[in-house]
Amino acid sequence: MDSLPSRLFLTEDGSHTLYDPGFDQHYHSIHGSLQESRRIFIELGIDPFLDKADEIRIFEMGLGTGLNALLTWQWAEQHRKPVEYVGIEAYPISDAEAEQLNYGALVGQDGLASVHQAAWGTPIHLSPYFTLVKHQTLLQHFSAEGTLFDVIYYDAFAPRVQPELWTAETFAQVAAFTKTGGYLVTYCAKSDVQRALRSAGFRVEKHPGPWGKRHVLRGVKE
Ligand SMILES: C[S@@+](CC[C@H](N)C(=O)[O-])C[C@H]1O[C@@H](n2cnc3c(N)ncnc32)[C@H](O)[C@@H]1O
Repeated sequence: MDSLPSRLFLTEDGSHTLYDPGFDQHYHSIHGSLQESRRIFIELGIDPFLDKADEIRIFEMGLGTGLNALLTWQWAEQHRKPVEYVGIEAYPISDAEAEQLNYGALVGQDGLASVHQAAWGTPIHLSPYFTLVKHQTLLQHFSAEGTLFDVIYYDAFAPRVQPELWTAETFAQVAAFTKTGGYLVTYCAKSDVQRALRSAGFRVEKHPGPWGKRHVLRGVKE
């Protein structure tokens, strides 16, 4: 992996990621941001909902660079399927950092700047198929106010640095705003995380991960 100026890094599939010095974590797998996001969040998360719902509600824990939002926006356009995308982020990246990211050209989807510039706390109709609602908050302070989601993209930093975000209590908070039969998808397959998901009411499936990661998890809300 080559290092570029600032906290920007190039991962092995040619897509950027950011490094967070506070948590000592990259935002994505160093083996490839794009291939990781596509495998976990698009293939295992939203794809199975294509024929299950007329409109799909996604919740993302940790909007970060906006890569998952951009890929989901592209998916909504390709499938002409309306998606409401609620993303929360406690520590937003700067506009200058967002401008450096090479996702638009790589993915073939414009609009990453609109994702980052969208106002907080209000629905923004970025296209007829993609509505974004961003909340600047800690997950621990987030209230879904009765909204139930089809798919949770659970993309917190790793349990080693954010153990409080991988507990049965936190997953129970998330389970409360996940539809029955809805999914929680995440890159972390640790057995402690599997146990915590189970005790919060998810049936846990292990799936082959993106290149460089043997397994990832999908929780199905029971
Ligand atoms: C692994 S990165 C997410 C990567 C992101 N999904 C992307 O595609 O760039 C984790 C994200 O969670 C955010 N975060 C950390 N703790 C949080 C918390 N308690 N509540 C909400 N967001 C948090 C971080 O600032 C970071 O953007």
